[in-house]
Amino acid sequence: MNKGYNISEIAEMFNITTNKIRFYEKKGLLTPIRQDDNQYRRFNEEDIVRLQSILTYRSIGISVDSIKNILKSNEKENYLTHFNNQWQLVNDEIHRLNTIRKSLEQVIDKIYEENDDFKVKEDLLEIVSESNKLNDIKNQWKDKWNFNSWARSYDKDVKRDIGELKIYKNYDLILQKVYDLVEALGRKDLKVLEIGVGTGNLAEKFLNGGYNIIGIDQSREMLSVAKEKYPMLKVRLGEFLKIPYDNKSFDVIISTYAFHHLNETEKYIAIEEIMRVLKDDGVIVMGDLMFESKASEEEVLKALPQSQVEEIKDEYYSYIDLLKAEFEKYNKKLQYYRIDKFNYIIEVL
Ligand SMILES: C[S@@+](CC[C@H](N)C(=O)[O-])C[C@H]1O[C@@H](n2cnc3c(N)ncnc32)[C@H](O)[C@@H]1O
Repeated sequence: MNKGYNISEIAEMFNITTNKIRFYEKKGLLTPIRQDDNQYRRFNEEDIVRLQSILTYRSIGISVDSIKNILKSNEKENYLTHFNNQWQLVNDEIHRLNTIRKSLEQVIDKIYEENDDFKVKEDLLEIVSESNKLNDIKNQWKDKWNFNSWARSYDKDVKRDIGELKIYKNYDLILQKVYDLVEALGRKDLKVLEIGVGTGNLAEKFLNGGYNIIGIDQSREMLSVAKEKYPMLKVRLGEFLKIPYDNKSFDVIISTYAFHHLNETEKYIAIEEIMRVLKDDGVIVMGDLMFESKASEEEVLKALPQSQVEEIKDEYYSYIDLLKAEFEKYNKKLQYYRIDKFNYIIEVL
């Protein structure tokens, strides 16, 4: 009968040092039995499988403490927490490095093109500090509305529409119109990304319509609810400002009731992100709280009681004329549909 392996045999088997194995043991990840006579470690088949898992998880950057936790509990939620955390870490790092790479490109071009050495120094610092600022803004966005705690009651609350502004009174109509605009493109082979998928109500229409759709949201709880309601829906943690996908990955990007959680500066960064992951001939359809312009906002606010004005100021309604101008920079045309006093749908082609 195989009495197991000693530490050198295990080290050789995995091509790692014996010190590494001792380290995992010290951290409580491995617990080989000790021989009665000389207290030498003996590793059995179970230890080997465990070490294989530890090394695999380490290879994708999962921390030793998280691995310990993963190995301790076999629960799906526990796995999801650790792997989602890692997904987020990796995505953040990709975004940070991409911004740095972009600024390095500009710096290198400047150095090649500039003759006056002294002037170049200042320009370089400016480029790098702009790129640092961009990374800071991307990383500083916080969910000040606490969507995790809202997730379980969201669908009920939308139906009751308790806020004074009654922003959800045309909810079903808005979701249907977003769907219809995509349907009108007349193609089923489209890869669709929904940003701020929430509990999945809009995504459901696309699933039923036979589209290839992925929903991202910054709230883990919203994603859990969406996944419970629609097991076939692919969901991922992801934010407007750091979309976790490669360039030109999607034909269509959709979103409802989510864009107003970004302030004006953040909206422009989000548009850059959306344009990055959208294919060249891609289409954006977004329903959200908007005003046609700052002037029309003033008109609307003038007629509202203070409590409603405050409700509006708690969020960041878009100005359609500014969005239009921003999308034009990407050679995109924006057209819009007014649904009610606060809700509009924009279609960007
Ligand atoms: C009011 S809910 C709308 C949910 C869904 N789209 C709907 O129409 O019912 C807003 C959703 O957007 C998500 N969200 C807000 N800001 C976000 C951001 N910066 N990135 C990704 N998701 C965001 C929230 O977590 C929440 O699920």
